[in-house]
Amino acid sequence: MTPSTTIESITRSTLNFSAGPAILPECVLQQASKDVLELDGTGISVLEHSHRSPSIDRVFEEAEASCRAVGDIPDSFKVLFLQGGASMQFGMLPLNFLPDGRTADYVDTGSWTSKAIKDASCVGQVHTAWSGKDGGYRHIPDRTEIKWSDDPAYACYCTNNTIYGTRWNTPPSSKAPLIADMSSDIFSRPIDWSAHSMVYAGAQKNIGPAGVTVVIIHEDLLAQCNANLPTMLRYDIHADKGSRYNTPPVFAVYCAGLVFKWILDCGGLAAMERHNEDKAGIIYNAIDDSDGFYTPHADSDCRSTMNIPFTTPSPELDAKFIAEATAQDMHNLKGHRSVGGIRASIYNAFPEQGCIRLGNFMAEFATAHRKA
Ligand SMILES: Cc1ncc(COP(=O)(O)O)c(C=O)c1O
Repeated sequence: MTPSTTIESITRSTLNFSAGPAILPECVLQQASKDVLELDGTGISVLEHSHRSPSIDRVFEEAEASCRAVGDIPDSFKVLFLQGGASMQFGMLPLNFLPDGRTADYVDTGSWTSKAIKDASCVGQVHTAWSGKDGGYRHIPDRTEIKWSDDPAYACYCTNNTIYGTRWNTPPSSKAPLIADMSSDIFSRPIDWSAHSMVYAGAQKNIGPAGVTVVIIHEDLLAQCNANLPTMLRYDIHADKGSRYNTPPVFAVYCAGLVFKWILDCGGLAAMERHNEDKAGIIYNAIDDSDGFYTPHADSDCRSTMNIPFTTPSPELDAKFIAEATAQDMHNLKGHRSVGGIRASIYNAFPEQGCIRLGNFMAEFATAHRKA
């Protein structure tokens, strides 16, 4: 890939605030558009190569190596590239790791965790260790609020709640193997591997295009997989087969590999975390400096750096805000239907210049519409 040493990865003026599929670094799109025509002088497109060809062997090897380098992933974890989206993990997890007679614990911080709970409940006994549902999912619990069951088979949580704009600042402490849905903030900041037995993430926010789900799983947990499952549902088979038991989503893995290299070029996760905090700070400042014109959804101690949902004083003004922003080439700012209002999703590849543009627009809009 043509290396891009710039963390400001986008030069086009159109700003895409989509929650996912989301913005990708321009250098990745440029390289991918070349390799779609022909990969490495082979005369064959990356879309056409057999998943058993030497070219695609290299794509998988490089994607895994770059993923490991970006995440600083210990050797005791396997990196898998699976299909079915993060939603597939909601069922695959309990099928593999929730045997009869055991309980799985979940912390319910939003729609995605409640979907995970629903799917796990189809498989076995589930205990909700805490739920923020009654509070509108504005809050992340502290240690004293979480009530784990006695001896759970595993404990699950979601690091960043895409719809509500809340995030865990540190992982919950759990005696059971801790499993995190990191779909909307993986590789936006360093990961504490000592706290986790497995993390998973759908690609379409910080990793690449939709179609691949990255699962990073400790070998001790992998050893506990349920062997009485159809093959495609078994993590251990996918691990043994190098994520190529069947035809894998080659193009999505290839793009993920380019994104991982871009993160490394930018200075890795420490640089990415600083950049994300600076970017989010611009929008939170616009909210906090608005004299109450804008109301953020999340409590201030658990604000996401990836998704920032907020409202204006009325649904009519929310709609006007979105229409005027769209007219200024700022797109996909409509909040999720369950929260309403506005949501700015500013994943790793989203440029700081774009946050400045939105922040300026927010200040102008508040001045124009604030009641005298
Ligand atoms: C935190 C989280 N988990 C899970 C999902 C579901 O992902 P997928 O569409 O890949 O199944 C999403 C999608 O936005 C998400 O944000």
